[in-house]
Amino acid sequence: MSGTGFFRAVPALKREGGSVSIRIDGRACTVRAGLSVAAALLEQGAVRFRQTPVGGAPRAPLCMMGVCFECLLEIDGIANSQSCLIEVRDGMRIGTQDGAARLAGMTEGAAP
Ligand code: FES
Repeated sequence: MSGTGFFRAVPALKREGGSVSIRIDGRACTVRAGLSVAAALLEQGAVRFRQTPVGGAPRAPLCMMGVCFECLLEIDGIANSQSCLIEVRDGMRIGTQDGAARLAGMTEGAAP
């Protein structure tokens, strides 16, 4: 599926090449190899990557270059990953983040 949201791939820049299989919130899909995770999700039509912890406002990538931190996702079990800076890999598991990210080794309600 081509991106239907704010960002779209420039046709002249679309690369010929392989593809990789990833899972987005448990849903299997195939995306072009070489894309960043953020670009791959946008091409799949994603419009919400996370919700803010306090107000629950939806967020999605803004800068696509590692500055704004609006593209945070859980990637292969690592919360708060900047998806615009990480290239998709075959077998990658990607999850949207709702609210505060869980940190490895912490139980819910535990003080940091
Ligand atoms: S989109 Fe801005 S840091 Fe990733």
